[in-house]
Amino acid sequence: MTVHAHIVGWGKYVPERVLTNDDLTHMVDTSDEWIRTRTGIAERHIVAEDETTATMAIEAAHEALEMANLRPTDLNLIIVATATPDHAFPATACLVQDALGATHAACFDLAAGCSGFVYGVGLAADLISSGAYRNALVIGAETLSRITDWEDRATCVLFGDGAGAVILQANGSDGGILSSLLGADGSGGDLLYLPAGGSRHPASHQTVSEGQHYLKMRGREVFRFAVRAMPAATRQVLEEAGLTIDDLSLIIPHQANYRITDASAKALGIPKEKVFSNVDRYGNTSAASIPIALCEALEQDRIHRDDLVVFVGFGAGLTWAAAAVRWSAPLPTMPLTRRRKIWYALSYRYAALRSLVRRFVRWLAARFTKE
Ligand code: COA
Repeated sequence: MTVHAHIVGWGKYVPERVLTNDDLTHMVDTSDEWIRTRTGIAERHIVAEDETTATMAIEAAHEALEMANLRPTDLNLIIVATATPDHAFPATACLVQDALGATHAACFDLAAGCSGFVYGVGLAADLISSGAYRNALVIGAETLSRITDWEDRATCVLFGDGAGAVILQANGSDGGILSSLLGADGSGGDLLYLPAGGSRHPASHQTVSEGQHYLKMRGREVFRFAVRAMPAATRQVLEEAGLTIDDLSLIIPHQANYRITDASAKALGIPKEKVFSNVDRYGNTSAASIPIALCEALEQDRIHRDDLVVFVGFGAGLTWAAAAVRWSAPLPTMPLTRRRKIWYALSYRYAALRSLVRRFVRWLAARFTKE
């Protein structure tokens, strides 16, 4: 029997605090008009002091698990796509695993810039189709506000924070992820990068004073790359699924700039209404942008059973990725019963307790074991 990977759960989290274009005019020399006309962005969400990529990823994962009606222990794989992990190591995916109590899951982070979520979906779908895994949680989560130079008007107006997640599940029925495509061109690595903090330029007084821990971007070149990569990847992933643009119901593209998505729609010869956009309210949330947009498209009833949906992203690397999805999840999904809600709340409490006990046992072992 051929096994397909179906999306059976989804969820998102965006921080409460909203930073508007007007707020930015008090920080740098810019205007609401410039930002709106060049990017389509009106506002973005920014994390609170105690929030991180992991805390947002965990919130999005809660929603996705509850939607899929799965227990955390049903997960076999957790991938967190992010350019802003909590630490270089451990992987943010391990922090998510611990908080969920997903004790049977393999975990890793995936660094493919803004294409990371679609890379994760493609990879997880292939691993599920191979029979290696049954339930995979793929999260895109970013805290870009912590690597943004708030004095650089060319970049600080573009980015925001947030997280989105999906659960892919093995199933013998047709549909789900039909095809995926992952691409890269490392020669463009310097167009969008974070210079310091890695092994090339470890953190030092000099790297900090020179602002080398903030992202740097050559915007115009990234723009030119994006308007070529998005339509090409969309066409190719449809072709691999044996489909054409005419079969398409909706594209959920990486939300970076409405001019990029408009140009892509034009290049593909499809109406703008077939390209989902919410960049106005979130800005560019990198790997989180597509899963957040997917959740909103579903909330707005823009996706129906058997629709053909394409996720397509581009970003640092340079990378690009696309996935063609025959939407197979039941819609509308049933709201959680009160009993089930309580069960989930208790299971997360139990996970926290379990983690604490394991740390304590480790502490005891270190203190009292002679080696
Ligand atoms: N407010 C006001 N003026 C600004 C500004 C801001 N926030 N940022 C830049 N400018 C100025 C520039 O200094 C420049 O002025 P000059 O002509 O006097 O030198 C002018 O606006 C035009 O700058 P430019 O960079 O050419 O603008 P643009 O039309 O290319 O738009 C981007 C800039 C960043 C919006 C656009 O290039 C873009 O979206 N690129 C892709 C970025 C992206 O998607 N990155 C993420 C990839 S995952």
